[in-house]
Amino acid sequence: MVDKLHRLDLLSFTASPSVYYNMGVNGNIRARRSMMEHFQRLLGHMMRARFPFIHVLSWEEGRALETIKFVAENSELIKTKRQVFTWSLLHADGKYDRCTDSPAKDLLSFLSHIEQSTVPSVFVIMDIHYFFTDNSVVHELVRGLKMIQPYVKRAKEPINIIFLSATAVFPRELEKEVSVIDFPLPSRNEIEQVLDSMIEANEQMAGIQIDLDADDKERLVQAALGLTLGEAENAYALAMVKDGRLSKDDVDIVLEEKRQIIKRSNLLEYIGAGIQLDEVGGLDQLKSWLGKRNGSWSEQAVQYGLTAPKGVLLTGVPGCGKSLVAKAVSSLWKLPLLRLDVGKLFGMWIGTSEANIRSAIQTAEAIAPCVLWIDEIEKGFRGVNSSGDSGAASRVFGTFLTWMQEKTKMVFVIATANDISNLPPEMMRKGRFDEIFFVDLPNREERKQIVRLHLHKRLKRQVEPSIVQEIVEQTEGFSGAELEQVIVSGFFEAFAERRVVVLDDILLAIRSTVPLSVTQAERIQQLRSWAEMRAIPATSKENLVQITRPGSFR
Ligand SMILES: Nc1ncnc2c1ncn2[C@@H]1O[C@H](COP(=O)(O)OP(=O)(O)O)[C@@H](O)[C@H]1O
Ligand SMILES: [Mg+2]
Repeated sequence: MVDKLHRLDLLSFTASPSVYYNMGVNGNIRARRSMMEHFQRLLGHMMRARFPFIHVLSWEEGRALETIKFVAENSELIKTKRQVFTWSLLHADGKYDRCTDSPAKDLLSFLSHIEQSTVPSVFVIMDIHYFFTDNSVVHELVRGLKMIQPYVKRAKEPINIIFLSATAVFPRELEKEVSVIDFPLPSRNEIEQVLDSMIEANEQMAGIQIDLDADDKERLVQAALGLTLGEAENAYALAMVKDGRLSKDDVDIVLEEKRQIIKRSNLLEYIGAGIQLDEVGGLDQLKSWLGKRNGSWSEQAVQYGLTAPKGVLLTGVPGCGKSLVAKAVSSLWKLPLLRLDVGKLFGMWIGTSEANIRSAIQTAEAIAPCVLWIDEIEKGFRGVNSSGDSGAASRVFGTFLTWMQEKTKMVFVIATANDISNLPPEMMRKGRFDEIFFVDLPNREERKQIVRLHLHKRLKRQVEPSIVQEIVEQTEGFSGAELEQVIVSGFFEAFAERRVVVLDDILLAIRSTVPLSVTQAERIQQLRSWAEMRAIPATSKENLVQITRPGSFR
């Protein structure tokens, strides 16, 4: 039964010891059904299949509980309708006597009630994660759960036990018994309903002036995607009280709120409009690849038969523009940019790292179409599969790869890596990233563009070609970052003497710089030979640099 379900409708993250379920599986099914419908069907399947413990992950207890009740009472979804009982630290359904001396005992006695249940029921337990991290009660609780587990499987009338909380933390002994599913963030329509009801209430009661056409309203709704309903409501309320009206200018207020909220999650950062693609010198092949995919997620592109790009992995010599390009993609495509900090994914408790990556993925999907930038990805996934890894990195990595493979939402992943030798080979396999680009040291033409860009940025005027030319001649083997650095140094030198900057200032800085390509010549050769087999150059062939021998750049 379960096997069949797996193939039909579920996707298990086998890299994870506890079973995680992804709601987006089959692109066709997904395209037709909303995230919420998926959740409902999946939960219904799990309930019918009598999974011992189902953990619903959500920040929105109220919304999630309502949905669980909806599923439990819907005979189309689960055949046998079930009554729903809840337990939390402060409240249990009246039917169950509260034990007065301790909440832990109270929870245990609630569990023993489950065994006596004679009607089809769903028991929703909130706050259980507090007990799972409390050494004084966790042993008894695990035992209690293990004891009712066979009962859940066998009971004459179907029963289910659901944990509901925002964090999936559970002891190792239960890892294989608990199945975790994400409760979806509000859809566009749910957010619109909140906005509509707020507009109506505030217009009448608080005299807030509403100045929105259909387009403005849509942008306000879009701006709140990725937030919980409560957060969206707060953001709109803030926008209304700030100046007593709601207008298209408030999109920025809502976006700013979203930025703050996402930042507080500590995993993702919402980055405002920044670098333009023409602020990146060279890398013509990469730029053209990105340019061709502009709009490829639009309705029109779908009609044309295109599928949205999954993402690219940029590797190469440090300081040559990888992070810069990542930032520029979002301006080129006019999409929001989210940065994921892989290092911060790893939590202390079993299960938290997976919960973290899933929550980050969920937020990104809710904001889609968007660009998800993972800078220096090798730092988080270093040592995956190695003996020193405790397992958390491998599980998070597995979750990430499966998502990359299966995702149908337009979340374009742009990952950068300076050191690919530490990256697990699975990352490079087909079907994950669309392309792996190698960003090499800039060639003559590219150095010219980079030097021009950085001089222009500071002088605010065009610079004589012969000056640029001279700098270019003297900087073979310099990275983009080093080119910028020598220009900055030259400017400091001149400013210290309160005079105009001259070519010699920059040439002096060049002479006192030993570039990475000299100090790390061997390392760079290794990167290049790695890339030759596996990546395509970010710079087109006809523009490709001289093959330099280690140590002989000038
Ligand atoms: N191709 C380039 N064009 C313009 N500036 C560049 C380029 N490459 C590097 N730089 C400068 O060097 C800085 C560091 O580059 P970055 O993109 O962070 O390098 P990395 O490849 O290590 O991610 C940039 O902020 C930019 O000022
Ligand atoms: Mg970088």
